[in-house]
Amino acid sequence: MKEVRVGLVGYNFMGRAHSNAYRQVAIYFPELEAQPVQKVICGRSEGPLTAAAAQLGWEEAETNFDELLQRDDVDLIDICTPNNVHVPMAIKAAQAGKHVLCEKPLAMNLAEAREALAAVQEAGVVHMVCHNYRRVPAIALAKKMIEDGDLGTIYHWRGTYLQDWLLDPAAPLVWRCKKEIAGSGVLGDLVAHSVDLALWLVGDIDRVACDMETFVKQRPLLESVDTGLGATAAESAEMGAVDVDDGVIALARFANGALGTFEATRFAAGRRNYNYFEINGSRGSLRFNLERMNELEYYNVDDPGDRQGFAVIQVTEPCHPFLGLPEQGGPRYWPPGHIIGYEHTFINTVADLMRGIASGENPRPSFEDAVKVQAVLEACEQSAQEQGWAEVEHI
Ligand SMILES: NC(=O)c1ccc[n+]([C@@H]2O[C@H](COP(=O)([O-])OP(=O)(O)OC[C@H]3O[C@@H](n4cnc5c(N)ncnc54)[C@H](O)[C@@H]3O)[C@@H](O)[C@H]2O)c1
Repeated sequence: MKEVRVGLVGYNFMGRAHSNAYRQVAIYFPELEAQPVQKVICGRSEGPLTAAAAQLGWEEAETNFDELLQRDDVDLIDICTPNNVHVPMAIKAAQAGKHVLCEKPLAMNLAEAREALAAVQEAGVVHMVCHNYRRVPAIALAKKMIEDGDLGTIYHWRGTYLQDWLLDPAAPLVWRCKKEIAGSGVLGDLVAHSVDLALWLVGDIDRVACDMETFVKQRPLLESVDTGLGATAAESAEMGAVDVDDGVIALARFANGALGTFEATRFAAGRRNYNYFEINGSRGSLRFNLERMNELEYYNVDDPGDRQGFAVIQVTEPCHPFLGLPEQGGPRYWPPGHIIGYEHTFINTVADLMRGIASGENPRPSFEDAVKVQAVLEACEQSAQEQGWAEVEHI
């Protein structure tokens, strides 16, 4: 069994989700030829970093990213930091000969995404972007059903990603509200996930017509208090500008003739993490909602007239994607009906990354896939600025 020694950067929300995945993957994917070792966790502040290392199961802590890259006992760099440092870190990691897993969005813009892709391709390292929703078993089943022809010709994609955590105008100006750190607002944060799924499930997008709005333009500044795990921060009385989008709407034309819509916001009261899509085809429809992530709804036009309606598939059987052990044939996680959660999407992602590193076959979504996502996001920004349709650059 090959050991993949991981150096992970950032130790808050995603740092914890990824740490948990590295810790769990060998339990549920014992067949993998490569398994991760939680070697080094990297962050800027020694105190909270040391606490994070102990709690999240890392052997060592390192405050200097360049030192991390110098180490011969680190094979994979996992980037769980805010968006502005993704590409600089990914490029350096690739140049140091490390495989790279990067959180989404890969980049601040399309040009930067292309630079990251060129760097990993030149270095010949394995690269992957953490669009973890591809590895929700119900979504992977949707992919299989589309490939099997269950939907026939696809006519419509409807992707909606709604949250409400910025509804309160007194919510502080966190990094996600600042263009210089986040690159964009919900566009890169939430629409990026929907676009990745749309490209994967339906196909390439040719053009978009998009608009966006910043509903609350000033927010209380944060006194930056990097406390590490479950970071808290004090608010100051001073206000700062929100210079990213709070809500986005977009129309899309797919290369295969399908029509699509995207909507995302941080201002949908009552919607905490409503990642929803519906796909309509000539033979049926599929509907998915992350808040009921073990279910996939399927309408089949061939059902007899008096039985027609959406059926709810409980995606918890060993025959479903990610849920069966290959050799024994039994459940990978739990018996049927014993549901899985958000964290399993990261375990499944890490498992496929380990497979990719063991086999040398690059897992998806790769940086190339992320460049395609970024091209759609860039066209959305252009369209919103110019108030008209914008062409998506194909790579
Ligand atoms: N895949 C998903 O569904 C998903 C979910 C949430 C976040 N994300 C992405 O993950 C990334 C991190 O988001 P998060 O929610 O974990 O953010 P966070 O604010 O919770 O944590 C960011 C971490 O990065 C560290 N950090 C900040 N600036 C840094 C720098 N310059 N150098 C080194 N470390 C730095 C912080 O100390 C903190 O530990 C973002 O790109 C975000 O878009 C993805």
